[in-house]
Amino acid sequence: MNYKVTGFDIPHVSKEDKLRRILDSALQRKVGKIKVYTTDSIYWSAEHFDLDKVDIFTASTLEEQIQILHLCNQTLLEEAYFIEKAGIGYMSKMVMLAETTEERMLYALFSADEVTHLAKISSFLPNPELVSTNNTFLHLLTDVAETSDKAVLIFVLQVILEGWGLTHYRNLAKNCITTELKAVLKSFLEDESRHHATGVRLCEQVSIEHQSRKIIIEILASFLQMVQVGPQGVVAAVEQIKGSLSRQQKITVFQQLGAEYHSSSRLNLLRGLMTNPQTVSIVQELDEQNAFTPFSVEQCASL
Ligand SMILES: [Fe+2]
Ligand SMILES: [Fe+2]
Repeated sequence: MNYKVTGFDIPHVSKEDKLRRILDSALQRKVGKIKVYTTDSIYWSAEHFDLDKVDIFTASTLEEQIQILHLCNQTLLEEAYFIEKAGIGYMSKMVMLAETTEERMLYALFSADEVTHLAKISSFLPNPELVSTNNTFLHLLTDVAETSDKAVLIFVLQVILEGWGLTHYRNLAKNCITTELKAVLKSFLEDESRHHATGVRLCEQVSIEHQSRKIIIEILASFLQMVQVGPQGVVAAVEQIKGSLSRQQKITVFQQLGAEYHSSSRLNLLRGLMTNPQTVSIVQELDEQNAFTPFSVEQCASL
């Protein structure tokens, strides 16, 4: 079977497979012993998701609050797991596409960085052997990673998404309430910033052809839309525990979550990452499509 670059559906070996022991000792040499935290803890509290401002949440029983938080926490951890797994594949693909020895060396090191990130993040997941996801962002990532257009790969995945990932991890580390996971997330930052910086440097050298430009705009428009729609995942978690909400209730929840404010600051951050000397016209075109404007809470609630 041929797996995609992101490898989301790639299986794990059996528990008894000797490969596990070899991998463990190889990892141990690189990053020391990785402790396994299989507890079902809460790593980010209600404040991280702004759920403390949502009436329907604060009026819920403690047990319901924990269940909602648990779902939100799980989503963040699983997303990180899949992103790191995708990172291994992406960096390995870039080893083969490298045009200089140094580039090849860097990408092979980066691929190993993502291996250590995956191993470390997995130790916090109660079920660290995930082989499928229905996360739309991850599906977009899978499609982008398949292209052989280097300008698209570098600009979208390494400049924008690695840059975005860096801010995302910094924020997760800042708000994480357990010291072990906080330290793990902090340890990723230096690597991720190197991955991003390499993308920025290489991007200066590639010329973005007309066809690549079109593809980039299309991908970024879909990606930005996932941000424009606000914290849909948080609302879905509330609904999963509290039962489905009416349109008016949903509007109130989005309002109390500060959906528009949050989306607009995220969209601004992305605009900053997308703005490089040779990509100004791409940002302009996305602006014309209103891709940096957050949806109103009414629009968010209608999706
Ligand atoms: Fe990573
Ligand atoms: Fe990375």
